[in-house]
Amino acid sequence: MAVDSPAAAWHHHRVRLDELRTLALRHLAASEYAAALRIHAHILAALPQDLDGRMRVGDICVRLGQLDLARPVYAAVAYLDVQTGRPAHALVALAALRDLGEQVEPLLEAIARLYAVGSPRIGRVGARLSPPAPERELGLPAPPRARAGGELAEALRAAVSRAAETASFRQFPAQLQPLPLLSELTEAALHRVLQAATVHRLTHGAQVVRQGDPGKSFYFVAAGEVRVVRREPGGAAVETELARLYEGALFGEMALIQAEPRSASVEVVGAADLVAFGAGAIRAAADELPALAAALARYTRERLVRNAVAASPLFAPFSPAERLELLGRFTLCELPAGVVHRRGEPVEALLLVVAGELSVVRGEPPFDEVAARVGPGECVGEAELLAEQPATTTLRAERPTLALSLSADYLRRLVLTVPEVRAFLESQASRRLLLIEEPLI
Ligand code: CMP
Repeated sequence: MAVDSPAAAWHHHRVRLDELRTLALRHLAASEYAAALRIHAHILAALPQDLDGRMRVGDICVRLGQLDLARPVYAAVAYLDVQTGRPAHALVALAALRDLGEQVEPLLEAIARLYAVGSPRIGRVGARLSPPAPERELGLPAPPRARAGGELAEALRAAVSRAAETASFRQFPAQLQPLPLLSELTEAALHRVLQAATVHRLTHGAQVVRQGDPGKSFYFVAAGEVRVVRREPGGAAVETELARLYEGALFGEMALIQAEPRSASVEVVGAADLVAFGAGAIRAAADELPALAAALARYTRERLVRNAVAASPLFAPFSPAERLELLGRFTLCELPAGVVHRRGEPVEALLLVVAGELSVVRGEPPFDEVAARVGPGECVGEAELLAEQPATTTLRAERPTLALSLSADYLRRLVLTVPEVRAFLESQASRRLLLIEEPLI
């Protein structure tokens, strides 16, 4: 029987891109620079669009003190990022160049020109180079050819020539995707904002924002992955993962918009390059803040609604598709601070609080008293709607409150068809009744 020679077997073996990257990271952690560089050169030979891999080659050059080799690599990454629709990652490469003493101002200006509002290169259906899929399969890198002494120099040469070349990109997309929210700014404002942005290159487990802290910055994920986790107040040990965010995503905007503490913690998974926009960057856009604030508010609303749905037992019996369908039956309403309905008035809808707070008030002024507080993810109005009665208590918004409202008609149909919803609403109604009927002291 013919047996493959070891070299041939080597070529037949295929590994996933993410496994190769992990292997490179392991070599790096063990200071085996030649081996790490060989893996990156090998990946880049097959996937020149792996700009994150190119960035790593630049980083290894810096670690080795080969600054003159790092410069063209970072410059190529910045150029390709800008031309392929990854401006946030271009900022990471520019920060690396700036750290090497390079003048990056003209490149920042170019980004601002290309991505500002009204730029002819920005389109609704614009393209963005997506990073290669982690499950993509590649062959294994060939073993080193050079003898031990020359191995590092040879690996450096091979990796840098792959990481710094730009000729393999013959065409760039004519239309690019806008920068989330920042592409609403004029060129001058965007330029100032980009100048004030800071870059953070973080490793696994780093906590970027902590739930409960005051919020002063928002962030873009330029590369890598983060996860959003929340601990329910009181239930310290239970942690819910709300989302995983990848390149191109934005986070940390909710605390800014709502002037409330951070709603969740955000931690790095694996490694992540982030661009932070702090007070300075926001001040830099001051004269165009309404556009920025409106765009930030759109993100915030979507996330608030998603989190309220995730927290509400009302949605628990449903599959993700059914939840979306049910969500479509609700309307989002902004309740100004003040009375929502008084005792004795008809209750028209079930209200699910998304942000802010409602108070269930019993008794009449001046002897009124808050019997229950209804916060995000909680609902109110079920008792009256189920019993088809007018309001037994007064409902008041303590501050401007965002709520999802479900019409009485739809709620009645829902409780008839989904017994879990009826059971939940009935148990909540009777719990609240106990609170309300407790004697006033
Ligand atoms: P902030 O409250 O400032 O800090 C935590 C951040 O996590 C929050 O802003 C959002 O940017 C983000 N976040 C919260 N909930 C979600 C969600 N459901 N999906 C994605 N991101 C979220």
